[in-house]
Parts: sequence; C-alpha cells; structure tokens
Amino acid sequence: MSIELLNQKKGPEISKYIYGQFSEHLGHGIYGSLYVGNNSDIPNVNGMRSDVVDALKQIHVPVLRWPGGLFADTYHWQDGIGPKDTRKKIVNTNWGDVTEDNSFGTHEYFELLRQLGADAYINANIGSGTVQEMAEWVEYMTMAGESPMSKLRQKNGRQDPWKLKFFGIGNESWGGGGNMRPEYYSDVYRQYQTFLPQYDKDHPIYKVACGPNEADYNWTDTVMKLAGQYLDGISLHYYTLPTGKWGWDKGDATDFPEDQWQSTMVRAKHMDELITKHSTIMDHYDPDHKVDLIIDEWGTWYDVTEGTNPGFLQQQNTIRDAMVAAITLNIFHKHADRVHMANIAQMVNVLQAMILTKGDKMIKTPTYYVFNMYQKHMDAELVEGVGDVPENVTYTASQKNGQLTISITNYDLTDEKTVDFTEANAYNQIESATILTGEEMDAHNTFENPDVVKEAKFEGATLVDGKLLLELPAKSVVTITLK
Ligand code: AHR
Repeated sequence: MSIELLNQKKGPEISKYIYGQFSEHLGHGIYGSLYVGNNSDIPNVNGMRSDVVDALKQIHVPVLRWPGGLFADTYHWQDGIGPKDTRKKIVNTNWGDVTEDNSFGTHEYFELLRQLGADAYINANIGSGTVQEMAEWVEYMTMAGESPMSKLRQKNGRQDPWKLKFFGIGNESWGGGGNMRPEYYSDVYRQYQTFLPQYDKDHPIYKVACGPNEADYNWTDTVMKLAGQYLDGISLHYYTLPTGKWGWDKGDATDFPEDQWQSTMVRAKHMDELITKHSTIMDHYDPDHKVDLIIDEWGTWYDVTEGTNPGFLQQQNTIRDAMVAAITLNIFHKHADRVHMANIAQMVNVLQAMILTKGDKMIKTPTYYVFNMYQKHMDAELVEGVGDVPENVTYTASQKNGQLTISITNYDLTDEKTVDFTEANAYNQIESATILTGEEMDAHNTFENPDVVKEAKFEGATLVDGKLLLELPAKSVVTITLK
C-alpha cells in the first residue's frame, strides 16, 4: 500500500486548540487531582498539585474548558470567590450529590491556567443563572478600569484583569442545560451574547454557542439560521460508547470482548460523518467559514470502575482508548478548515482522562501518550495524502518548521500492516520515530504497574530515496518526523 503526500500543496492550519482539554466539577476531576489546596501534604504550588501540573505541562495543554458541562448551568460564580472559609457550600446535584465547597473558583482556575500555560474557555450559566450574573462575571474577569466588579476582584487579591479567550453560552441546552428547543435557544443565545461585555476591543472574547447533540442536524440548521451571525463557534458533543448499539448503552473499560473493540473503532470513526454533515449545513449559512465547529466534549464513555461512585464517571484507559484518541485527532486534522477547537472529556480522573490519581499517586494513561506524540501537529499545516490505505489503518500528516510529521494508527487486533509514504518534496532524514502499543487489547497502566503502556522508540521505519516504509504492529500508534 502506497500513499503519496502532497506536501507542495498548501493545506489549512491545524489549530493547536484541537488539543484542548475539559475539567468539570465532577468527581475527582478537580478536587484531589488538579487542586489539593495549600495545606495539603501532596506537593503543590498555590494549591495546584505539582506532579499532575508537571505532566500536563509536557503535553502543552493549549486551552482548558471549565466549570462544566452540566455543572456550568448550576454554577453561581460568586459562590467561588473571596476567603475560602466564607465560600458557600452547595450540593453538586449533577454529579453524586456531594458537597461542593467552592474552594476552586475563578481565581484558582486562572492560577491553574497560569501554571499550565493554557488559555481560558469558560462556560456561562444560562440554565439557572441570569444575563446580569453572566455579564458581571465577565466584568469581574476582564474589566481593567474602575467598576464595581473590577473593584471586587481587586479586593479579592487580583489587580489586573485576566485574559478570557473563549466563552461558551449554553451547554447541552437541548438536554440537561435547559431542555430547550433550538428556536428558543437561538433567542436565548442572542440575548445573552448581546450583554456579553467586550472591554478589550483589540482581543474580543470568542463566543461559542451550544451546538447539536451528535447527529441532531436540525439543531445546527436552526441555530445557524437564527443566530449564526452572532457567534464565532458552534459546539458539537459526541461520545464514543463501545457496545455498538447506537444508544446510551455502555460497556466495561477493560473487560470487553473483541467485537466491542471493533464497534468502538466504528463509533470513533463516526466523528468524521458527524463533522462532515454538520459542516455542510454550516457551509449553507456561512460559506466563508467565519464560524468554527468546536467539539468541546468528546471521548470514550464506559461503565464506571467497580466500587467507585457512579456519579464520578471514573474509568480505566487502555490501548483501545489510545486508538480512539488517534483516530479522532486524525479526523479533526482532516477538517482543520472548520474545526478550530476540541476539548476531550475530561482531563483528569473523569471519562477518557490523560491522568488518573489515587491519593498521592498519579499515572499517565495511553491517551496521554497519544497527546504527547501528536504535539508536532499543533499549529502545523495539514498535508493531504492520496493513495490506498490498508484496512484498519488511519493516518494524518502535517508540516511545520521544515519538518514533516506523520501519525499513523493500525487498530487491527492481530495483523501487522505495511505502508509506504512518498513525498513530493522529499525529506531525507528521520528526526524521530515513536510507537505506542500494547500486548493485549486491554493493556493499561495501574498504580502498581504504571508503565505497561508507554511510548517507545519505533524501529520499524526505513527511509530510502524519499520513500518511507513503515512496518506497523497490531494495535499501535506511530509518529514519525522527517527533516
Ligand atoms: O462530560 C460529562 C458530561 O457529559 C457533561 O457534564 C455534559 O455536558 C455531558 O453530558
């Protein structure tokens, strides 16, 4: 099988924001994992857990969506500012009915972003909040001059405004975010965005509207028609469930039959059809591509780990998840002209996480390593390829700074695959070659054995006369950079 890479043709830029993350007030997604508080025995900087932050810094998280998710539509930001001992304790009704003490609030979120070097993506509360509450939150965060909210921010210890890059108006407003019809939501969106203050005229806040659930094309059509002129991005939520029954029917994260491996791959690849069809609708209302598609929730969703709180959505992460991550990132790249941001759900301890923690222990998941291996694609130019791709193989290619990076996934359970790439502009040296693979289809890392699945040097690549030959083991993700 031979693929020609058309690297003389100018492709769209793969936005680094496609590698975005999402952290919600959900289970141990924030508390105990990202945030342990200043008085914790676990080493931390200003309450942020150092081992976790250090690991995330290595993958250069570009943006972090917060505070939800469903939690966003019950979140009242004023509960999470000021002295910690006076902050309101509430019940997290979406996720396990546990006490939320609001010790992680706006100031802590921006401190975490500072440590990670990530941009902000905040989701407003339009479900149980008000237009004024939203407007005042944005004033609190971004007003440089004198105003009631900037004075309150300063009283709470922050002199300068923060940079608010992305702002979501509504989360799953078709469901848990208000059970709205698209016509009604469009009007609500228009109203909220009208009162979103833009104090920094040179860097206006990027507005994201709530988009469809999976294949709800009517939602996209209606919102684009009625509100399309008022938004910068529209979101899409799609989760990969393994059972293949096309319903909200999940399966086990580690103990699964071979046919669930296959159906998980089919479900992951479905993202391509969803993006294609939603983009076609967007093209109709927005032929100049002024509006982006933002996949701000994606990833695998299994039954929770036995013995854990069902409301905490804690699941293991295997080499199967690494395949899903790679397949999905390849699809996002393919649609780089429309997809500007994506946020995997969720960064730590929840659903398809990068990192799992238990007490003071921490492990990196197979998904973490895919994000690590794909870093050179961030802000690189997409390179199109033509030719035959073997069954159960997907790939992506991009170039940046005189280097060509190819990532290729063989999700076949048993068979090795051979693929060769030719480049129109021949590169003549392998700069780096990395592989992630697992012996068994449920290979995963545990707190006892943290390095079962991890990146290794890939030895199956040869480059001769501008032709790159790859021998890909079964169940593998490989990234090669040529120069
Ligand atoms: O990511 C978990 C939940 O999934 C989010 O809170 C919600 O938006 C979605 O249904």
